[in-house]
Amino acid sequence: MPFPSEPQKNASRGTYVAQHSEKELTRLAIQDQIATRSMGGVLPEQPDPTLFRSMLDVACGTGAWLIEAAQTYPAMSLVGIDISPHIIEYARAQAQAHQVNDRVAFHVMDVLLIIALRPASFDLVNLRGGLSFLRTWDWPKLLSELLRVTRPGGIVRVTEVEVIQQSNSPALTQLWEMLLCALYRAGHLFTQESAGLTGQLERLLSQHGCQQVQTKTIVCRLICRVCLIKCRIAYAHLTETSAT
Ligand SMILES: C[S@@+](CC[C@H](N)C(=O)[O-])C[C@H]1O[C@@H](n2cnc3c(N)ncnc32)[C@H](O)[C@@H]1O
Repeated sequence: MPFPSEPQKNASRGTYVAQHSEKELTRLAIQDQIATRSMGGVLPEQPDPTLFRSMLDVACGTGAWLIEAAQTYPAMSLVGIDISPHIIEYARAQAQAHQVNDRVAFHVMDVLLIIALRPASFDLVNLRGGLSFLRTWDWPKLLSELLRVTRPGGIVRVTEVEVIQQSNSPALTQLWEMLLCALYRAGHLFTQESAGLTGQLERLLSQHGCQQVQTKTIVCRLICRVCLIKCRIAYAHLTETSAT
């Protein structure tokens, strides 16, 4: 059967690009460390995070971002949601081990269905690494859910990564092109290029109900010499009168 050359909207659910396993848990923990450290902390672009009393992390993975936020900002209450019961169990154990479980709660939730949390409950709603499970057509509904649970005057914050391949190895270049092609055809990228999602963040947030959208690009030079990682954060302040 020929492989479809265009993104397939009717593809089955269960859209995460990795399989949930012990190895994936370890990979997520390492990835979190690299992302948070190289970006300069949990909320590097926010002028005064101590103003936030409550934050939600959507598709929170190991919960490390939230746990670090809880340790950095002792007055904050935090909630993390993720589709994987195994990952959530790990995140809860980590919160307990770091003695922040009185302020950090984790729930199993498929955010492609609905975010089962009360409207206007959070000062800041965070999503990092959505490329791994969101298809282009999932963004409008998810963004409307993020807006619904953010309080008027609060912030919706989305961080996605683009990788600039810098190797002069033809094999690596080909492998990278195949990966981009697969992500595009599976519907995870809007265009078949590294910036196929990051380049669309500002438009997505603006078109789907966010106001005052700002973006910031952080370039991370990691141990890996064959690529350059750019983290692009798009964040939007909701006006005090935003409907929920
Ligand atoms: C690339 S990881 C990012 C984890 C974390 N946000 C970070 O930046 O370290 C993507 C996460 O999305 C979760 N996920 C995948 N599909 C989901 C869905 N439909 N609803 C909620 N979480 C989902 C996965 O279990 C995984 O933990």
